[in-house]
Amino acid sequence: GPDQLYRKRELRSATRPWRRVGESIGLVPTMGALHAGHLALLHRAIADCDHAVATIFVNPKQFDRKEDLSRYPRDEGRDAKLLAEHRCDLLFAPQVEDMYPPGFASTVAVTGVSDVLEGLYRPGHFNGVTTVVCKLLLQSLPDRAYFGEKDYQQLTVVRQMVRDLDIPVEIVPVETVREPDGLALSSRNVNLTPSQRAVAPLLHRVMTEIAEELADGQTPAALLLPEGQQRLGSAGFTKIDYLALHAADDLTSLRQVDRPARLFAAAWLGKTRLIDNIAVERR
Ligand code: PAJ
Repeated sequence: GPDQLYRKRELRSATRPWRRVGESIGLVPTMGALHAGHLALLHRAIADCDHAVATIFVNPKQFDRKEDLSRYPRDEGRDAKLLAEHRCDLLFAPQVEDMYPPGFASTVAVTGVSDVLEGLYRPGHFNGVTTVVCKLLLQSLPDRAYFGEKDYQQLTVVRQMVRDLDIPVEIVPVETVREPDGLALSSRNVNLTPSQRAVAPLLHRVMTEIAEELADGQTPAALLLPEGQQRLGSAGFTKIDYLALHAADDLTSLRQVDRPARLFAAAWLGKTRLIDNIAVERR
């Protein structure tokens, strides 16, 4: 049935009959605690491919803080039911020992695009992401794999890995799904207290306003970005890791919008860290 869980050895063989008859496969890698953002990826996979495969694996290698891993929400029963209702063909939910058996010794590391933004604040995070995504791609051998723009840097890093290592898969980006008030959906949002939840949408609001002004090109980023950080601080964010303008393609830091760009932010509400990003195009 569609809600069955498959162990590692079964993933390659589960997709083999489809590949053999030339049916296309779309992969949706997740860490579970599924929300409408994950489902948007699944719906794209179902629309584009003959078969949609979802994976749920809370990958310990990509957590740079112990507490973030222990606080990470998990509800596999609900997730499996949701995936079945949304016509996912196959769910792969391996155990940590399946993915990283004793003696596991390899790391997939991408330099450059991994080194900025999140890379500066979460040491080792992207090595964990690329290692697990590489394994999942090789295990399932999909035609396409779906990644959210919510984690735009992750999407960029995965694209770089696939290009560099000649992994035969098309990486498909999917737009960020937001709450009506603008807050980007995230599994970690359930950890917000009601008062933190009330502050959270200000991240997207302030970013949208700063992006407008950056697009105008009247005021330099060197003035707008510190001002934006201050506004986030007075709105109630307890710490702002960054509010920064980077090129949309290779994530180089930009002083002005002289090429397609994105505005990136990471900010804390107590123990919860929110990230977001939006497109900035010069008018
Ligand atoms: P996770 O945070 O569960 O996200 C799984 C996928 O859903 C990612 O591609 C992410 O960008 C996308 N996603 C999350 N929130 C979204 C939103 N609001 N709108 C659109 N897409 C959204 O990202 C990971 O897991 C992991 O790093 C993973 C790629 C699975 C590797 O472990």
